[in-house]
Amino acid sequence: MSLVITPLVAADIAEVAALARVVWQATYPGIISQAQIDHMLGDRYGRARVANELATPGIWWDVARVDGVLVGFAASLTTLRQGEMKLDKLYVDPAQQRQGIGGALIDTVVARARDVVGCSTLILAVNKQNSRAITAYDKYGFSVRESVRVDIGNGFVMDDFIMARTL
Ligand SMILES: CC(C)(COP(=O)(O)OP(=O)(O)OC[C@H]1O[C@@H](n2cnc3c(N)ncnc32)[C@H](O)[C@@H]1OP(=O)(O)O)[C@@H](O)C(=O)NCCC(=O)NCCS
Repeated sequence: MSLVITPLVAADIAEVAALARVVWQATYPGIISQAQIDHMLGDRYGRARVANELATPGIWWDVARVDGVLVGFAASLTTLRQGEMKLDKLYVDPAQQRQGIGGALIDTVVARARDVVGCSTLILAVNKQNSRAITAYDKYGFSVRESVRVDIGNGFVMDDFIMARTL
C-alpha cells in the first residue's frame, strides 16, 4: 500500500466533505440522530468554513491517499491551553480501516504538534458510545481525562470523553 499524507488544499474540500458523509453514516447512526449527523456535517464541512480554516494559523487539515484515492483525513488545532493541541477530526474510509491509516494520520499530527509547534499534550473529544474509536485511541496511547456534555445548539448535545496523550 502506498500511503501518502499531505496538507489539504482547497481543491480537495468537496472530496473530503463527501468522504466525511460516508464515514459518518457508517459510524454515527445509533449513536446520534440523523438530524444531528446532518447538522454537524453541514456545519463542519461546508466549503466556506473549511476554506477559512485552511487560511487560519493554528489549524491544520491533513489528507491520506492510497494510489491517489482519498482514504482518510485529520484536522488539528491549538487550544487555549499552553502546549496543548487538539485532534479535532480523524476519519478513515470504512473500506480502508484497520490498515494503519488512522495511525499514520495521528503520527503526522503528533510530529507537527511536538516537533514544529512545541506542544506536550494532544487531546481529542470522542462520543462515549463510539467504542471502536475509543479502542483505537487507547491503542494510540490516549487515556480518558474527563467526561463532558456540550450543548451545540438546535437541541443537539455532544456527550463525549476528552482523551489526552502526552507527547
Ligand atoms: C477510529 C479510526 C479513525 C481508526 O482508523 P484506522 O485506519 O482504522 O486505524 P488503524 O488501522 O490504525 O487501527 C487502529 C485500531 O482501531 C480499531 N478499529 C478500527 N476500525 C475498527 C473496526 N472496524 N472494528 C473494530 N475496531 C476497529 C482497532 O482497535 C484498531 O487496531 P487493530 O486493528 O490493531 O485491532 C477509524 O476506525 C474511523 O474512521 N472510524 C470511524 C470514524 C470515527 O469514529 N472517528 C473518530 C471520531 S472521534
